[in-house]
Amino acid sequence: MTPATSSGRDLPAHRHVVLIGMMGVGKSTVGPILARRLERPFVDVDDLVTATAGRSIPELFASDGEAAFRALERVALADACASPEPLVIAAGGGAMTDPKNRKVASAAATVVWLQADAAALAARVAGAAPDGDERPLLATGDPVLTLKRLALVRADAYEAAADIVVATDDRSADEVADAIHEELARCDA
Ligand code: S3P
Repeated sequence: MTPATSSGRDLPAHRHVVLIGMMGVGKSTVGPILARRLERPFVDVDDLVTATAGRSIPELFASDGEAAFRALERVALADACASPEPLVIAAGGGAMTDPKNRKVASAAATVVWLQADAAALAARVAGAAPDGDERPLLATGDPVLTLKRLALVRADAYEAAADIVVATDDRSADEVADAIHEELARCDA
């Protein structure tokens, strides 16, 4: 069974669900499945950012730099979390490194940390974008090493934000959505 834990915070059903975790862990795949099960809309923070900017994430990184992307990401996450309608929200992999984002997410949502080891992440990222083009942080160097380094650097931030932890290794997106759903039900019980 999954190593799934909850922090004991109050987790009522009307709260948003924010999915966090590394690039490639499946937030954008699991999110819509979970949203269908919970009968709520799904919102991907990366999509909000690209819609606002009118540019892709690699274009944004290249033209304005990562800091500009992070500023748009902060606004997009806050906007999503301010929605009166409960949502399932996929946060970009770096969002929780910002303490303001952790505060916003924790105040409005049940935060679910999806975990996978770096090799599995790299395989999924490679499957999604064989040229690594969609994720500028992986565009240069060995993606497995970069993912390992980022996972290490970000672990404390993810842990600080998470109410629920769900392992995704060897599980389909449907199975991960099931595991999250079960945990949410347990928190609500
Ligand atoms: C990033 C993750 C990406 C995207 C951007 C930066 C990160 O989102 O926000 O490329 O810093 O980990 P996904 O986690 O959805 O790939």
